Amino acid sequence: MPSKLAAGNWKMHGLKSDLSELPAIADTATATSIPALICPPATLIAAAATPGLHIGGQNCHIANQGAHTGDVSAQMLCDAGASHVIVGHSERRSDHNETDKDIEAQAKAAWSAGLIAIVCIGETLAQREAGNCLDVLAKQLRNSVPDDATAANTVVAYEPVWAIGTGRVAEIEQITEVHDALRVDLCVRFNDGKDFTLLYGGSVKAANASEIFSCANVNGALVGGASLKAADFCPIIEALA
Ligand code: G3P
Repeated sequence: MPSKLAAGNWKMHGLKSDLSELPAIADTATATSIPALICPPATLIAAAATPGLHIGGQNCHIANQGAHTGDVSAQMLCDAGASHVIVGHSERRSDHNETDKDIEAQAKAAWSAGLIAIVCIGETLAQREAGNCLDVLAKQLRNSVPDDATAANTVVAYEPVWAIGTGRVAEIEQITEVHDALRVDLCVRFNDGKDFTLLYGGSVKAANASEIFSCANVNGALVGGASLKAADFCPIIEALA
């Protein structure tokens, strides 16, 4: 059985004062027994430690240390208290030209440091409109998720690029079609493919969470904007319970 996960990606948002949102999120996670994860900016990871809540990074370098100005290693994230790290977010793929092969290496670096890798994949609107969505996603999945991935060390997040931060959530039929296809691909490739946690991300909010979570192969969400405030994120955790 896949584990459920309610994950929040704060992206480049958040100052120390915003950590005051975390205790209420942790309380909801505890009350519902739903694992919740917040990935704040790297500057806040150490300070974000909150009982009952997992903390994660938003990206990692493939090396543990070295002459890589401005980068953060998986080992450093772990040292700061992280249990997870997001790799391959579409904003990293587009803003930093990260490729599937880079992301595969980052996932391996995450595991070496003892972190769970949340590997993101997603098609652009042009790719979807051209009818290439499932092919694009299958290729990203094949090339970004390492061959030795397991359900214990890897989570897969489907985030259609056109649904991120746009308020335009994918239709339930679209989410179902993609997640079912991802599950089949994972089961063909991995012995424990049926146990991988599959997250949907892209304009998830309290109002649409229950419907999204009703899809058979959706095991949780990777939430951006609606994870910044406990008042918005807690109902999403509750919808997953
Ligand atoms: O990683 C989460 C994300 O890209 C979705 O962002 O703001 O559309 O929930 P948002």
